[in-house]
Amino acid sequence: MAEKVIINDVGPRDGLQNQSKILLPAERIQLINKLLAAGLTHIEVGAFVSPKAVPAMAGTDEVAAGLPKGDYAFSALIPNRKGYELATAAGIRNVGLVIAASNTMNERNINMNNDRALAVCEDVLAQARQDGVNAQVYVATAWECPFEGQIDAAVVADLSEKLLAAGATEIVLADTIGAAAPAQVKTLLKPLVANLGAANLSCHFHDTRGMGVADVFAAVECGIRKFDASIGGLGGCPFAPGATGNVATEDVVLMLNQMGFETGINLAALIAAADLAAELTGNCDGGHSSRWIRKQIEKGAIAA
Ligand code: HMG
Ligand code: MG
Repeated sequence: MAEKVIINDVGPRDGLQNQSKILLPAERIQLINKLLAAGLTHIEVGAFVSPKAVPAMAGTDEVAAGLPKGDYAFSALIPNRKGYELATAAGIRNVGLVIAASNTMNERNINMNNDRALAVCEDVLAQARQDGVNAQVYVATAWECPFEGQIDAAVVADLSEKLLAAGATEIVLADTIGAAAPAQVKTLLKPLVANLGAANLSCHFHDTRGMGVADVFAAVECGIRKFDASIGGLGGCPFAPGATGNVATEDVVLMLNQMGFETGINLAALIAAADLAAELTGNCDGGHSSRWIRKQIEKGAIAA
């Protein structure tokens, strides 16, 4: 049986948070349902953050209320205890805290310095453990910070270790501005996987320099089996200058399929979800591979 790789589609959160057009909760739910129809089981459905900081994520409670029931791993991003309380009150059982490896990014993104951000994470992680809520933590700017430049791998390792010790169910290593090349991915991941275990790690790549899929490949070679990706390559952090879209889900699925992994995701249905994302946002180019995938669907070589 083929080895499984989990894809967590962050389009409804990372993909929509930076759009000039703000979608209605009903439209966000429509997109989530299209992703489910494509076979995705892991979806980040929104964020419980300050609506002043990120207006597009207001109404995530309404999105959560409209999610279908089933064996799905729906998650939401949270920056602090208030976000945790709002998320869990909305029925979310998988939360994603965010902390950056660089102080300036923490200040710009969540208005906290490194020490405060770590203390907030530790506090929320303790609560989540008590409540039986899965709490993963994004380590943003894990390779490069738009303000402070290259990040020392030892800082990321130390932070990841502390967060796991505090109860994080997973560390999501995030290349916020899409600056890492595959060799840099391996340099960071090899010792992290050896010390912390691949099962405790996942990766979140942005595709700014067109290396997102190559970065996923490098991470797969290091043993990582869980990835964030975004439908149609939507995405970007409003507080990280130069951050563009996430690596597109269709590009990642296509590559993993060709590598012989099982993702459970249907490419034709994924393209239908990308079409909906484009229709709703008016601003979604699709992945690098989408033209080719469409041709295969037309020819009947990729079946719906
Ligand atoms: P602050 O202004 O310092 O917060 O912002 P505060 O604690 O002083 O509170 C100010 C107001 O916000 C208060 O309301 C709070 O109740 C409210 P008021 O009394 O003025 O009416 N508030 C909240 N409301 C809703 N949800 C909350 C919440 N917390 C406080 N959770 C804060 C600090 C963290 C709140 C703010 O900076 C924030 O929301 N930041 C989130 C920024 C964000 O969403 N960034 C994008 C996601 S991260 C990302 O994209 C990177 C990632 O993709 C990985 C990667 O690529 O690297 C994950
Ligand atoms: Mg991101």
